[in-house]
Amino acid sequence: MEISSLHIENFRSFQKSEFNFSPSYNIITGKNSTGKTTILESIYLASSGKSFITSHLLNCVSFNKQYFFISLIFQDSLRGKNINILIGNGKKEIQLNHKKTKGFFEIIGMLPVIFLNYKVVDIIKGSPEKRRNFLNHWLIFTDPTYYSELSNYYTLLYQRNALLKNMDISRELLSILSNKIIPVGRVIQQKRKEAVSSLNDIVQKNFYKISGKNVKIEFIYNSSPTEKLLKNGMENAEIQRKRTLFGPHLDELEILMDGIRVREFSSLGEAYSIAFAMRFAEKESIKGKRGEEPILLMDDFFSDLDETRRENVLRMTEDGQIFLTTLNLNIIPKDVLDKAKIISL
Ligand SMILES: Nc1ncnc2c1ncn2[C@@H]1O[C@H](COP(=O)(O)OP(=O)(O)OP(=O)(O)O)[C@@H](O)[C@H]1O
Ligand SMILES: [Mg+2]
Repeated sequence: MEISSLHIENFRSFQKSEFNFSPSYNIITGKNSTGKTTILESIYLASSGKSFITSHLLNCVSFNKQYFFISLIFQDSLRGKNINILIGNGKKEIQLNHKKTKGFFEIIGMLPVIFLNYKVVDIIKGSPEKRRNFLNHWLIFTDPTYYSELSNYYTLLYQRNALLKNMDISRELLSILSNKIIPVGRVIQQKRKEAVSSLNDIVQKNFYKISGKNVKIEFIYNSSPTEKLLKNGMENAEIQRKRTLFGPHLDELEILMDGIRVREFSSLGEAYSIAFAMRFAEKESIKGKRGEEPILLMDDFFSDLDETRRENVLRMTEDGQIFLTTLNLNIIPKDVLDKAKIISL
């Protein structure tokens, strides 16, 4: 999988810019606020329909402009494809190969992209939602029906929670929604469990490559069973608390290193190394399932890893297309620089 070109218009600080990329390393360099992260953001948006900076895509429209436009050409194992995104006041048009689509859901899953920045450590140190997001992202790119199942689950959850907030609640409607949401929740939990069961060995191996340390890393998927929604008395508890009390939106992925919970006890460097090991495991799994490398976006991640770990992480990125941003080209190993296309802003 590789992106050959990107055209952006009125996207944050870019008025109109065109970039052509190398199928291997692309190193985007420039002083602070020259737009390095913005380029990665536009690629990520074409992959996921989201920004990793804002939850309001309209914030990406350049100040004093009415819309932004992104056009991206990429190549999968079969052929070239084009995604066009136009978003502005009252406008949202997503095109695939110059044909209008009904929305982002038609393109999500097509262009596998893994984004890494300093926040990667949130997978380890952050709330359970960050670990669920990790699993969701992974499954969206390896399981063709997961995204629609997840969207369906969240639509039902939204409806159910809205109902539970009602003063005059219809028990019949609540029970209808329970019966609808339970099987969808079960499918999601089953898929996440299967994905997690394949993590242990590969993350351990990747952690060794990054840190040189041989430790035992275990993943335990604790699911909050949706079936419990039908348990006696549960509806009353939910009406009192005004929300859905069981389901995959509350699941937790527990991570242990030599038997110790990493969320509480790992050092920041260890947490970074495990987090990178997990994202690289995701990368390998996407490659295994789809037969093509996902694209790696790495935003100035270097500061929290020592030099050895930083080089080890870079060594693990040798296959596929990679976008790196950095303030300082001197910290990139020479052999990587020699292979790379340098984009200076
Ligand atoms: N909607 C917008 N319209 C215009 N400019 C914007 C908008 N949103 C952000 N900017 C500006 O875009 C500039 C580029 O930001 P970006 O984060 O891409 O820079 P960067 O090169 O990654 O910087 P750093 O080295 O500090 O990480 C910033 O000066 C920011 O204020
Ligand atoms: Mg930046």
